[in-house]
Amino acid sequence: MQKRSLRYEGKAKRMFETDDPDLLIIDYKDDITACDGKKKGIIKDKGIVNNRMTNYMLRIIEQNGIPTHYVQEISDRETVVKKAEIVPMEVIVRNIAAGSIARRLGIPEGYELLPPTLEFHFKDDRRNNPWINEHYALTLGIGTPEEIKTITDYAFRINEVMIGELIKAGIKLVDFKVEFGRYEGEIILVDEISPDTCRLWDAQTNEKLDRDRFRYDMGNVEAVYEEVYRRLVL
Ligand code: TMP
Repeated sequence: MQKRSLRYEGKAKRMFETDDPDLLIIDYKDDITACDGKKKGIIKDKGIVNNRMTNYMLRIIEQNGIPTHYVQEISDRETVVKKAEIVPMEVIVRNIAAGSIARRLGIPEGYELLPPTLEFHFKDDRRNNPWINEHYALTLGIGTPEEIKTITDYAFRINEVMIGELIKAGIKLVDFKVEFGRYEGEIILVDEISPDTCRLWDAQTNEKLDRDRFRYDMGNVEAVYEEVYRRLVL
């Protein structure tokens, strides 16, 4: 499979057209951003960690009956995926309070959220991906009622699968963001699942093993990405 024209360049990856009109190649970069793109950096080999961890998770999620865009890993940083029509919504699932829910509602960081909760954000970088609810999603034409229900069910099931997988590696899944697309009339999971898009805490010490280390200038960003990779994938 050959890379053809650049279709899209995001903060942490590039997507290329291929010889096959139904397939794309994702190429993961080492660039890292935070604070709505205002803070930028480079984390050596992050692209490798994110590519490999994403594919590892997508394969397990697929085995658990949730369709994904994953087709084939072709190098350290590159993966062939199905070309889906993106549903312009970020879906966040939270098991433990941290980040924006802690700030917005005054819930102490580390407080267990029972049952786990879910939120939708409209994908619009110029407006910092504003919070929306299911009714907005319908009114804005983001999806049909069936699609919004499927996305919600899938997101909670993905949470269960990921909690189970990560705890075997001694990692607590605090929260994560996923995105979905349409492919051949079906809702499928797209995009990455990595320490850029999840909050991951060491199960024993609660040490942060994710992008928060970059957001909050905590240091050792490279080392914790490698640590997650080593525990989970190698
Ligand atoms: P938040 O607490 O900042 O709302 O983030 C919740 C989770 O979603 C956290 O694991 C980081 C992830 N996330 C992204 O991957 N991209 C985003 O644009 C946002 C806002 C959050």
